[in-house]
Amino acid sequence: MIKLATWQNRVRRRVEGRSPRQIAALTLKTLRHAARSFSPAAARARRADQAFDRRWGTDTGGTMNLSALNVARDRALLGFGYQASNGVALTEAMAIAAVDPARFAFVDYGSGKGRVVMIAARLGFARAIGVEFAPELHTVALANADRFTAVSGAPIRCDMVLGDAGSFDPPPGPFFAYIYNSFGPVILREVLARLEQRAGAGDPVFALYVNPRHREAFEDNGCWHVLTDRGDWVLYRLAATAG
Ligand SMILES: C[S@@+](CC[C@H](N)C(=O)[O-])C[C@H]1O[C@@H](n2cnc3c(N)ncnc32)[C@H](O)[C@@H]1O
Repeated sequence: MIKLATWQNRVRRRVEGRSPRQIAALTLKTLRHAARSFSPAAARARRADQAFDRRWGTDTGGTMNLSALNVARDRALLGFGYQASNGVALTEAMAIAAVDPARFAFVDYGSGKGRVVMIAARLGFARAIGVEFAPELHTVALANADRFTAVSGAPIRCDMVLGDAGSFDPPPGPFFAYIYNSFGPVILREVLARLEQRAGAGDPVFALYVNPRHREAFEDNGCWHVLTDRGDWVLYRLAATAG
């Protein structure tokens, strides 16, 4: 009975504030997601999750809907839930951009349980920062970072920041942004606007957009050059910056 009530509450939180059309789209998305979870690709992703966590003793796997997390409703409606990426695109993009990680700060916008931040720390970025607005995921990320640093001996600390990506002020200097389809165009534009203030400052600014469903936010205003477009990820460089 208690389980049924919890389930009903979750459903209520997911549909609250949405129009019938949005609820229909959400239902379709949920059904598609359920069907995909049986696919070979999903099985491969689960194995990759397990491999990372087995190696470092961390907990970065699984998926989580924003409706089940303690985040402001208006912001949750503009974002997407948790699912970790594997960092393969990151190493490829760094090679293409000829990034010397020791000179760059790295920020994962919507960092969840922090897997990509840990990968960036291991790759040798001068700073590895994750910004996540769900306190439940942030708490897991902090524990993961402690565990990862102890086991890996990564030379730099992972900075896990609890906050909204749209109001995060990126550190100055050469900068590498990572965004794995964490949110829609509204928040994406907030993030990019803060980076665009850097144009003209001379430091290189790159952004790796994985699962790039809202490329228009990058491409509408001519501030970002496409360096590489792989379909499932795009590497951008902020115009009028070095690199
Ligand atoms: C698809 S997951 C990506 C996780 C991680 N970046 C990775 O690649 O493994 C998206 C994450 O973005 C977070 N998120 C969504 N909107 C956000 C916002 N406005 N500010 C901060 N985090 C946000 C979600 O809570 C979720 O953890």
